[in-house]
Amino acid sequence: MNQIKIKNTHFIEKMGQASLNQIEAEIINAKSHLIKGDAEGNDYLGWVDLPEAYDKEEYKRMKADVARLSAKSRVFVVIGIGGSYLGARMVIEALQSEFASMVRGRSPYVVYAGHTLGEDYYTQLLTLLDHEDYSVAVISKSGTTTEPAVAFRIVKAHLEKKYGKAEASQRIVAITDARKGALHDIAVNEGYPTYVIPDNVGGRFSVLTPVGLLPIAMAGFDTDRLLQGARDMRSICIEKNSLSDNPALMYAAMRNILYRNGIKVEMLVSGLPNLRYLAEWWKQLYGESEGKDHKGLLPHSLSITTDLHSMGQYVQDGERLMMETMLHVAKPSSHIAVPADEHNLDGINYLAGKNLTEINDCAMEGTIQAHISGDVPVVEIEVDHIDEYTLGQMIYFFEFACGVSGYTLGVNPFNQPGVEAYKKNMFHLLGKPGF
Ligand code: PA5
Repeated sequence: MNQIKIKNTHFIEKMGQASLNQIEAEIINAKSHLIKGDAEGNDYLGWVDLPEAYDKEEYKRMKADVARLSAKSRVFVVIGIGGSYLGARMVIEALQSEFASMVRGRSPYVVYAGHTLGEDYYTQLLTLLDHEDYSVAVISKSGTTTEPAVAFRIVKAHLEKKYGKAEASQRIVAITDARKGALHDIAVNEGYPTYVIPDNVGGRFSVLTPVGLLPIAMAGFDTDRLLQGARDMRSICIEKNSLSDNPALMYAAMRNILYRNGIKVEMLVSGLPNLRYLAEWWKQLYGESEGKDHKGLLPHSLSITTDLHSMGQYVQDGERLMMETMLHVAKPSSHIAVPADEHNLDGINYLAGKNLTEINDCAMEGTIQAHISGDVPVVEIEVDHIDEYTLGQMIYFFEFACGVSGYTLGVNPFNQPGVEAYKKNMFHLLGKPGF
């Protein structure tokens, strides 16, 4: 069942139903490129069928490795950058307690490395690892990315010193290309269990491969339900052929119409702090897929109500260049009501008995009304609740909409030539041979 509803009332008030009618044929044409695989980037469409066509044998082996490693680890280090860590982090942070580092559950606590070169970060990480039993996933599709390679050297040296070489190699899994790359060669040489990132799945579309599934399972979350959610959303995205029936097509249509009408920035806005890495993952997905040929909406994010007290002024009253995509979660998994106070010195007894979601929802609705009056176009996405199943639906929904949106924009959504520019300069500065 579809758990993702697009509300376009405010969009239609501003842009008119006619704008949607006009773009619909283009959107459906972009969708057919994804399904038929007959446009640029078609060698990276493996993600379209992934929720059905994932490697079932490898998935079984992954679960066995997760059980083996979980039994001997209090901490699990995920080494990767960009698409090789953001998807896992998005799901884990959406589902775990905000205080998971303090309140340990039965599963290992996942920490991250390879996504930064901040030196103190690694000093602090190694201090933690001195005192905790841990294991490691090192993840890189190319197998040659500098940041995770550096982090892996550091963590591997620590692990081998702590447990000895033989046991260390039982505590490392590598997730990389099936045949090539430095990480592939290291894994073969050291005898690490390896998992494959399929050739036809790019980094930012790889969360439903072992890249995302293995760390998510290590954190104790149900990857079967995640895949089921993605599978059900895939059926909707593939089978439904109109904007009104297909949420991914509607979302892709609205953001392209707004872009063509001068909007430059899309802000993903949510009222839940545990969705901040959903926004980070979404930013990479859309920024890296669409930001090409000097085109594309700049993805940005806001957290309500936190950022209303920092960025709210700009959104209400600054340069008019942005749209907002409000991501509303209808039901929290628990309620806390505001207590009554007989003295009411803080003057908030009018809120007594209301739960925080009621207040947060009013903040969101008030924000929508204010920003619309401030001439900010608003698109609304409603998700019933947050769990593995709805996250699986959201992953597939955002990926499919991204592919359709990129083709509608007229770019190849599946390459990232711009990412290479900084690397050449960095290698030159570091004296890498050949640069
Ligand atoms: O989406 C992408 O392709 C990138 O963000 C990559 O995931 C990122 O650069 C890491 O690359 P790799 O997995 O090859 O180390």
